[in-house]
Amino acid sequence: MALNRDLFQDNFNQSNEKEMSNAEIINKRRVINGYDDGLMQISPLKHPWAYDIFNLMIKNTWVPGEVPLQEDVNMWNDPDALTDNERRVYERSLAFVSNLDGLQTNNLACNIIRHLTSPEVILAVTRQTYEEALHVQSYANMVEALALDPDTIYGMYRRDQELYEKNQTVLKAVSNISDPMFKTGTFESDQRFLEASIGNVILEGIYFYSAFLIFYVLKRNGKMPGSAEMIQFINRDEDLHCRLFTHISNGIISEQPELWTEEFQERIIKNFRDAVDMEYNWGVSCIREGILGLTPETLRQYLEFVGDYRLAGMGLPKQYNVENPFPWIDEYTQGNMIEVNFFEGTVREYQSGSLEW
Ligand SMILES: [Fe+2]
Ligand SMILES: [Fe+2]
Repeated sequence: MALNRDLFQDNFNQSNEKEMSNAEIINKRRVINGYDDGLMQISPLKHPWAYDIFNLMIKNTWVPGEVPLQEDVNMWNDPDALTDNERRVYERSLAFVSNLDGLQTNNLACNIIRHLTSPEVILAVTRQTYEEALHVQSYANMVEALALDPDTIYGMYRRDQELYEKNQTVLKAVSNISDPMFKTGTFESDQRFLEASIGNVILEGIYFYSAFLIFYVLKRNGKMPGSAEMIQFINRDEDLHCRLFTHISNGIISEQPELWTEEFQERIIKNFRDAVDMEYNWGVSCIREGILGLTPETLRQYLEFVGDYRLAGMGLPKQYNVENPFPWIDEYTQGNMIEVNFFEGTVREYQSGSLEW
């Protein structure tokens, strides 16, 4: 309930709000189902983790237009620089991530924000929505720079059954709450919101990962380095988004522990396992028997490793207990797995927050 329609209904002298103290208002604050006047008072905070993440997001500010793509353009236009298979894998990966970020922009704006009742959480998810819009722009920049046929990329899902079904599954998982009549406030609907919120952990933390891996494998082999750099910036954002939704979900669980039943936890574990399977199937449909040393087996192991990491974030038991088969990926994605900012030193101009006139 980002805008509280029940407020400002009475005339001033009859309004009940006069009786409420500020401390009372902050104490009543909840991630969902809390008291919220819709006026975004973010000092003091009830959910400081959300404000911390919001500040980290600001520090990570970047602009897609500044990522150089000229080397990629040269390679794409050089018939010997990439094999047909590598081109196909590139286009499929780009098609999927662009669909996913487009979908997520709308999901946050239309499905999620309206049910949140903590101003600092709304602030962070609003910033996240803006970042998803930046990601949408990033892919458009790649399509334009390489002069790809927009229909090949954006329209691929209409002709490719695997992509169609992957989008369909992702959309279903996050649209569980998209009915305009859906409201939180009952055990059943709150569990449904929580499941959708954890669906966002899965979306941000698993569904991107075969495509990210493919871009990094290409770069590691000297191919399409600008695209991989763009993906690194996006990946760093997605890492914070995943962290934000892990906090949102854990926040709801700590405020409404009755929702977190054993049966529900089993369902969530199954959702994570299904997501790893689906991401694997999608990844294999891209790389087929393998590309540049990335095989179906190592892809599977990597996704299992990532899945376990996300499960652990939700306090759920690891399901696979495997090592990361690509330790080198840390140099690209360290921000994903550990709290180290691997971009330190490369984007100082944005990190400083200073303006030059
Ligand atoms: Fe994104
Ligand atoms: Fe995201």
